[in-house]
Amino acid sequence: MKGIVLSGGAGTRLFPATKVVSKQLLPVYDKPMIYYPISLLMMAGIREILIITAPESLDQFQNLLGTGAQWGLKFSYLIQPRPEGIAQALILGRNFIQDDSVTLILGDNIFWGEGLAEMVSHAIRQKQGATIFLYRVHDPERYGVATIDQQGKILEIEEKPKKPKSNFAVTGLYCYDYHAAEYASMLKPSGRGELEITELNRIYLQKGELRAEYIGRGVAWLDTGTHQALLQAAMFVESIQERQGLLIAAPEEIAYRMGYISTKQLLEQAQMMRNTNYGNILIHIAQG
Ligand code: DAU
Repeated sequence: MKGIVLSGGAGTRLFPATKVVSKQLLPVYDKPMIYYPISLLMMAGIREILIITAPESLDQFQNLLGTGAQWGLKFSYLIQPRPEGIAQALILGRNFIQDDSVTLILGDNIFWGEGLAEMVSHAIRQKQGATIFLYRVHDPERYGVATIDQQGKILEIEEKPKKPKSNFAVTGLYCYDYHAAEYASMLKPSGRGELEITELNRIYLQKGELRAEYIGRGVAWLDTGTHQALLQAAMFVESIQERQGLLIAAPEEIAYRMGYISTKQLLEQAQMMRNTNYGNILIHIAQG
């Protein structure tokens, strides 16, 4: 049961904000963007995580995340020399994955809500095949789009179709069996020069081994693709945290609640951030 967070890419759609900083390191309100996908993997019970970055950002990710031991995790790192497609993450991660199942999540995908972590942990327990997670959106042409039948079975998936046949976007969260790297190495670059994740999912679909899970309206899948969307995502996080006095996607808290770190360890990490609300909420949690 492995996890990969793909955090490469050129980030050109967020220039100049991402000229010298990787998109996935930008803050979404009070924490770096990559904390959100890492938190979801943690809540699904995944502890061995490979972080794939662009060459120039590797040091920064390592400085931020370290070995993972502080959160009871084990991080490995790899470079993606050029952004040659999301499916390339599985080829690059082949030695890391070995004969295990793997959950791939894009480092800029932020999910928040009840039940998703359980959905993912259920999906990774399936021995064979792949699971994609669909979310209803008003602008499906920006995403991979799944066409489904009355029973919810996937009929087709298309990458950014001009005329989408449904409103179900394929989110950047994918659970695969141990065949994923082998199938990904069979792919050819698309018109935009990328190994498309949609093409990998199509291989599973053709084999009758692609499942769909529907993320309901109780879960938010936040867009981070534009400056405006990023600000809105930050405001969403701020308003929920402020209202509830709880943290969204704090790896320290999750590690503590999962029993990976002790109260003392949580308190030590929280103390370093005591000048922030983030730190104070963690201190409060540690003090019970
Ligand atoms: O967000 C979900 C969508 O992600 C899916 O619906 C699409 O099917 C899938 O193709 C992808 O859509 P985009 O083409 O919009 O993805 P984008 O190129 O923006 O890359 C998504 C993230 O992955 C981004 O943070 C950069 C990172 N990335 C992307 C590529 C192509 C890499 O790290 N390496 C890459 O080679």
